[in-house]
Amino acid sequence: MENIFEVQDLSYQVGETKILKHINLEVEKGNYLTVVGPSGSGKSTLMRILASMISATGGKVLFDGKSIDSYEPIEYRQRVSYAFQQPTLFGKTVRDNLSFPFEVRKKDFDEMKVINYLEMVNLNETYIDKSVNDVSGGEKQRIALLRNLIFPPEVLITDEVTAGLDAENKAIVHRMLNEFNDRGLTILRVTHDETEIEDSRAKIRIGNGEIEND
Ligand SMILES: Nc1ncnc2c1ncn2[C@@H]1O[C@H](COP(=O)(O)OP(=O)(O)OP(=O)(O)O)[C@@H](O)[C@H]1O
Ligand SMILES: [Mg+2]
Repeated sequence: MENIFEVQDLSYQVGETKILKHINLEVEKGNYLTVVGPSGSGKSTLMRILASMISATGGKVLFDGKSIDSYEPIEYRQRVSYAFQQPTLFGKTVRDNLSFPFEVRKKDFDEMKVINYLEMVNLNETYIDKSVNDVSGGEKQRIALLRNLIFPPEVLITDEVTAGLDAENKAIVHRMLNEFNDRGLTILRVTHDETEIEDSRAKIRIGNGEIEND
């Protein structure tokens, strides 16, 4: 299998503080990799580097065989999408958020497609014109996730995206992500959730800025 990511001796340092040290990692295309480890160990930092939101201070990251720095940021974001640990919705309404992926691609807003996506995460069409101030935290998480998936990327990085959801909605998100993964989406998921860790097909553990072997 081909690797979508190859991370070679990556480090990330702020001032004198070494947040990530000697990270080596290969992620195969189509994998569903779960990333675990204690709070503050460096999981989100590594994911932000892979999403090209920050740059490593040492080592190499190859995406699809080429250095991560060689891609245009706009193209890269469409190929590797990061679902934030604490998502925020922008603008005034849910529509503002879900029309954004269409605008970036210079496409007309496809309301039917958006309704289908909302239904995938247990929301309905009435949400389109809701104010961003009137949706709950868990609804916000699901809407933000749709923003990542409405035009599916090649890699989705989810950073504790189910942390604020009840069991039913967690299961809905799991089912949706499994379906995308079955259709070829590579997923990297950071989680502290025991059931997600137990169910994971592949797993890496980060401790104190380094990959630990289980
Ligand atoms: N820009 C920065 N400057 C200084 N310290 C930072 C910076 N970014 C991250 N850190 C520190 O690096 C460590 C790792 O942070 P990170 O967000 O990657 O942890 P995490 O494993 O995602 O934790 P959690 O499970 O709580 O989300 C933390 O101690 C954090 O305070
Ligand atoms: Mg984190």
